[in-house]
Amino acid sequence: MRSPKDFFAPLAVGAPAPLTQVPSRPSRVIHFFDPSNAKMAAKVPAMVGTVDVLLGNLEDAVKADKKEAARVGLVAIAKATDFGDSTQLWTRVNSLDSPWVLDDLTTLVSEIGDKLDVIMVPKVQGPEDIHYVDRLLAQLEAKAGLTRPILVHAILETARGVANVEAIAGASPRMQGLSLGPADLAADRRMKTTRVGGGHPGYLVRQDPPAGVEDAVNAPRATYQQDLWHYTIARMVDACAMHGIFAYYGPFGDIADVVACEDQFRNAFLLGCVGTWSLHPVQIEIAKRVFSPSAEDVAHARRVVEAMGDGTGAVMLDGKMEDDASLKQCQVMLELADRLAA
Ligand code: GLV
Ligand code: MG
Repeated sequence: MRSPKDFFAPLAVGAPAPLTQVPSRPSRVIHFFDPSNAKMAAKVPAMVGTVDVLLGNLEDAVKADKKEAARVGLVAIAKATDFGDSTQLWTRVNSLDSPWVLDDLTTLVSEIGDKLDVIMVPKVQGPEDIHYVDRLLAQLEAKAGLTRPILVHAILETARGVANVEAIAGASPRMQGLSLGPADLAADRRMKTTRVGGGHPGYLVRQDPPAGVEDAVNAPRATYQQDLWHYTIARMVDACAMHGIFAYYGPFGDIADVVACEDQFRNAFLLGCVGTWSLHPVQIEIAKRVFSPSAEDVAHARRVVEAMGDGTGAVMLDGKMEDDASLKQCQVMLELADRLAA
């Protein structure tokens, strides 16, 4: 991954010390909490070490008259909590067209900028939104004397954002990753689903009519539910891979349906996402399990690496051909396993 320090020129006047890279720690699960909700906020310290990322949410799902309380609550939690080495602190600020975002950014960077790893920016429309946040963060960091850059994560949740996804992913060396925002995206595209992520029973393909039977069209036929989000996730993953940043699935709103949640998370993992959001504690274990390579995959990958010797040529293992390219696939799996074990 590119190092932000390669790109950050110190500001000319009153320049802070050179910025150092934030290590790319595993972030399989980004657990959302509402800092304006005292009961939820009180549970945060006990969650340190159990999730990769704790995200104080200031945007949607926080009522307009609680925006200030959420911001103040996040500052208090951040100041009072030691997040240690295995949990990062992120926030989702309000959108750039809202009356709250300027206060979100100025308050958070000046008060807890040393504790914030990543700022998630919702409803990003194009690279210009990232440029704006990037410049503002540089100014606020310089003013606060911060020596470590705060990274930026964009939510892909407008049609225009999806159209600009490659430019957004490459808009700044601060870019940490992108998440799919299926609820806002569905509304922006005028999709006819009211679900927050996941599949839809109406989005189907049907087996061909059987040949040679009467009323073949109405004969019983298998149907297969399709993935509404495949196109967007695939575009997002390609844009992230091209720019060396991370792709994430977003929210899965049907908290009770842990089985469909796991399916959605697994599809995203298989397509190249490194993690997902968790909106409820039941989703944490699902996310950790799904976004970690299985013991079988790791064992297979190690066998392929061993069998491939110097890494060139082709070998047969269990009747299957392995070569330089499948070796690379195995190395992806092992690199993730090593990072998670570190
Ligand atoms: C997330 O923010 C979404 O809109 O799905
Ligand atoms: Mg949204």
